[in-house]
Amino acid sequence: MKATVLIPAAGTGRRMGGSVNKQYLELAGKPILAHTLTLFENHPQVENIYVIVPIDDIAYCQKNIIDRFKFNKVQRIIAGGVERQDSVRNGLNAITEDGFNQQCRPILIHDGARPLFDCKRLSALIEAVEESGACTVGVPVKDTIKDVENKTITGSPDRSRLWQAQTPQGFQYHLIMEAFDRADADGFVATDDASLVERLGHPVQMLEGDYRNIKVTTPEDILVAVALLGGRT
Ligand code: CTP
Ligand code: MG
Repeated sequence: MKATVLIPAAGTGRRMGGSVNKQYLELAGKPILAHTLTLFENHPQVENIYVIVPIDDIAYCQKNIIDRFKFNKVQRIIAGGVERQDSVRNGLNAITEDGFNQQCRPILIHDGARPLFDCKRLSALIEAVEESGACTVGVPVKDTIKDVENKTITGSPDRSRLWQAQTPQGFQYHLIMEAFDRADADGFVATDDASLVERLGHPVQMLEGDYRNIKVTTPEDILVAVALLGGRT
C-alpha cells in the first residue's frame, strides 16, 4: 500500500537561536525543509505529504517552499501545536479528515529538520511497517551515556544496548491513532512517536539507519549538514 508522510516543521528552533525559523535556513542554496521534502517527493511509494508549520508560516511556506520548488505530493499545509506531539496530532487528524485512514496504511513521520535521510532506506521501512505495524530508523550510540541528577552520575546504562532514535518512524494508521488516543487520555508527552506505541505494549522494530541522518538542532549542525550534502551530491 502507498504511504502517507507527515513532516512536523512547526518548532521554534530555540537551540539554533537566530531570527529565522531553522527549517528555512538555506543549505547549498535550498532551504532545509525543501531538501527534506525532495526526499519524499521523489519516492514512488509515497502517495502524499502533509507539512506541519507554525500557523503564521502557512502562507510563507506555501509560496517559498511548496510553490517555489513545485512539490506536487504536498496534500496540505497544517498548523502545528505547542509540542511536537501536538503538531503530529494535527497532521494525523488531517489524514483522517481527508480519508487516507485505511487501517493498515503506512504513516511515516519525519522531522522537517532532518534533510539528510537516505531515502534508499524508505522501502525497507515501509516493508517493516507492513509486516510488524511499527518501525523506526536509528543508529547504535557511539558515546558512553550517563544518567545525571544534580550534576552527579546516577547510572551508566550498558552501551551495547543503546540506540539513538531518528526519523522517519513508520506506523500502521490504526496503531498510531490508538497510541495518540492513549497518550492524550493519560496526558503522556514524549519527544518521539515510537514512545507512544511502545507504551501500548506493541513492539516497535529498530531498522539500522546511518550516522549522516542528523537533526539540524544547534548552529554547528549547519556546518556538518553542509559538509555531508557536499559529499552526497
Ligand atoms: N516540531 C513541531 N512542532 C513543535 C515542535 C517541534 O513540528 N511544536 C518539529 C520541529 O520543527 C522539528 C522536529 O519537530 O522539525 C524536531 O524538533 P526539534 O529538532 O526539537 O526542533 P525545534 O523544537 O524547532 O527546536 P528546539 O527544541 O531547539 O526549540
Ligand atoms: Mg524541540
